[in-house]
Amino acid sequence: MGKILVTGGTGFIGSHTVVELQEAGFEVIIVDNLSNSKIEVVDNIGRITGKTPEFENFDLSNRGETLSFFLRHRGEIDAVIHFAAFKAVGESVSKPLEYYRNNVGSLINILEAMKLSGVKHLVFSSSCTVYGQPDKLPVTESTPRRPAESPYGNTKSVNEDIIRDYCHAEKDINGIALRYFNPIGAHPSALIGESPVGIPNNLVPYITQTAAGVRKELSIFGNDYDTPDGTPIRDYIDVCDLSKAHVVAIRRLLDGKNKSNYEFFNIGTGRGLSVLELVNAFKKSTGAPLPYKIVGRRAGDIEKIWAETTLANNELGWKATVPIEETLLNAWKWEKKCRG
Ligand code: UD1
Repeated sequence: MGKILVTGGTGFIGSHTVVELQEAGFEVIIVDNLSNSKIEVVDNIGRITGKTPEFENFDLSNRGETLSFFLRHRGEIDAVIHFAAFKAVGESVSKPLEYYRNNVGSLINILEAMKLSGVKHLVFSSSCTVYGQPDKLPVTESTPRRPAESPYGNTKSVNEDIIRDYCHAEKDINGIALRYFNPIGAHPSALIGESPVGIPNNLVPYITQTAAGVRKELSIFGNDYDTPDGTPIRDYIDVCDLSKAHVVAIRRLLDGKNKSNYEFFNIGTGRGLSVLELVNAFKKSTGAPLPYKIVGRRAGDIEKIWAETTLANNELGWKATVPIEETLLNAWKWEKKCRG
């Protein structure tokens, strides 16, 4: 089938994607510097799939190590899925250079190393953050991108541009950027999931930690938005569904089915849920208590966004399938497992 390099393969989306790749018959080599993940993930992936992926620990923002890795594995790697990146929006505002050096620097090193070692295919982990607050919903791939609200968000836009420009210059390199909406959930085995360090910024980890009693109550950031219940709307995508989108993107590239050598797709459910709707879905599906209070808006939050997914449905033959209740139940199972 082929061997795929997954950078950031011990992280949240990376680890689930490694599972889906292996289950689809691909071999996987993970590169991760464990800056925000644990080595145990590698074995846990092996427990799910029956095959422990290869793993190397180094920092992809180190050009020498990246080139040397690709040259050592010359002729072995068929494609790269690049997840490895810093992802804390707030931290990126206070440490912009670290974010640009890591997130942009790694991509440049990888593209250079791909060219040198003859690897032709790249799938990049992008984000709906590149759209900002769009005027028209749902967002399609032709919705214009907007200036990013944070250095983190800007690294996604800049990296898309770098891939587009490099694919334009190097016709034998093929790139696909997947613009994820809000990834949530965990593997149904509860062997891998999302493990935020410290106080979670994102909604679902905050919800599960509150229900587990680790946090006192959930703060809902604003109920005065122009939405039916006043809370912001997002398109929450199950992490296993999202991971499968990477497998089909890889197949598209390896089979030469891509229509141009740089493509990008929205990866969401096509359905928007408000914060309150999500909270209620969590309570209904898990039966767990979830104390919450309404507080002021969070700076930088947009009001509403959800995806038009027709392009991914038709071109990739991919569609989100997992019902939100099941996704939330998996997130809850994972949280309980982590709390022992
Ligand atoms: C955020 C990032 C986005 C990033 C994504 C990664 C911002 C502005 N955007 O998206 O760039 O790609 O995470 O997953 O930070 N909420 C609460 N209480 C909480 C936490 C969140 O009410 O304790 C609300 C937020 O106001 C928002 C929704 O839940 O309406 C989702 O928030 P979150 O999970 O942080 O994702 P985004 O902000 O959409």
